[in-house]
Amino acid sequence: MFTEQYDCPLLAHNTFGVEAKAYCLLTYASEDELKAVLAHVGQQHTGRPLLHIGGGSNLLFLSDYEGVLLHSAIHTVEVTGQTEEHVFLRVGAGVVWDDFVEYCVENHYYGVENLSLIPGEVGAAAVQNIGAYGAEAKDVIETVETISMEDASKHVFTNADCAYGYRKSFFKTGEGRQYAVTYVNFKLNRLFIPNMAYGGIRAVLEEKGIPSDEVTAADVRRAVIGIRRSKLPDPCELGNAGSFFMNPVVGRDVYERLSAKWHDMPYYILENGQVKIPAGWLIEQCGWKGRPLGRAAVHDKQALVLVNKGGATGRDILALCEAVRSDVRQKFGIDLRPEVNIIGGMVK
Ligand code: EPU
Repeated sequence: MFTEQYDCPLLAHNTFGVEAKAYCLLTYASEDELKAVLAHVGQQHTGRPLLHIGGGSNLLFLSDYEGVLLHSAIHTVEVTGQTEEHVFLRVGAGVVWDDFVEYCVENHYYGVENLSLIPGEVGAAAVQNIGAYGAEAKDVIETVETISMEDASKHVFTNADCAYGYRKSFFKTGEGRQYAVTYVNFKLNRLFIPNMAYGGIRAVLEEKGIPSDEVTAADVRRAVIGIRRSKLPDPCELGNAGSFFMNPVVGRDVYERLSAKWHDMPYYILENGQVKIPAGWLIEQCGWKGRPLGRAAVHDKQALVLVNKGGATGRDILALCEAVRSDVRQKFGIDLRPEVNIIGGMVK
């Protein structure tokens, strides 16, 4: 049976460590329980907004949430098929993402090792298309199983249906928001081909004296964990939600105008010819790296991360977000968009 918690403290449900409460949190452990939850919401909580959450690593609550939160406790990992080259896995949306990565590396299933230590859960990973160190969730997702929160019907989306882009999917669109992810089906490799597109990984492995033809997935996982720990704060010690902003993608003309003035500006040219500029660099140039504003601050090792220095409210963090955005807009003419979902307010 699903569980229902009224007046639910959200401290354990947001890695920013913001103290807020939700009117009600409903947790379910199967698709049938989710259907029962939806029927219950229809009878008991009509008119209240409904929000599906994952591990809370990408959420900022600006105030108490007067609606109903749903959370998956579907924790199964099942091998559904194998060929010589691939293994197929069906993974519950409530599985902690990094537990899944660890399980894959231990079992010699390859393709997610570069995504080690990303906080959050498997369902949210498929919604957000999490990415790091040259890999994205979309590279290994085959299908996404969902239940519509509007009419409790089941829908399975193929990778193409999910319309994945950089930190983007169909599930983040107006129409897509109605679907709660229940399971994600992955296609992983049984043959290890290291993905060293991101120079930092190669540098760490070289430093450790591991020859490139002897690299294992466990080595890559250790290298990624090392890099992440050196740059990104541990939410248990310093509240944060990873990258607060998305890296802006601009047209070639904008990039050329900027690079003529800022010769050392890092950039990545995308397949479609547009250019991605690291928001962390833009923020650092504005003098924000390590700088506090009230009880919030820009992290001193990675300017893309906003942190709760202790006791910050969602509005304190939003004030910092807006101050940073305003300076970046003024200096570079670029409008940074938050990657974090801000609940209870709109970003202009
Ligand atoms: N940079 C600075 N100053 C900073 C931060 C970065 O100049 O304070 C420069 C770096 O020198 C480098 C470039 O920006 O040239 C890129 O930095 P980094 O490799 O740290 O990556 P990022 O673009 O800042 C993205 C993801 C991260 C992911 C890393 C590694 C987004 C929004 N963020 O950050 O994802 O771990 O790449 O692949 O795309 C997350 O989403 O929560 C997250 C941590």
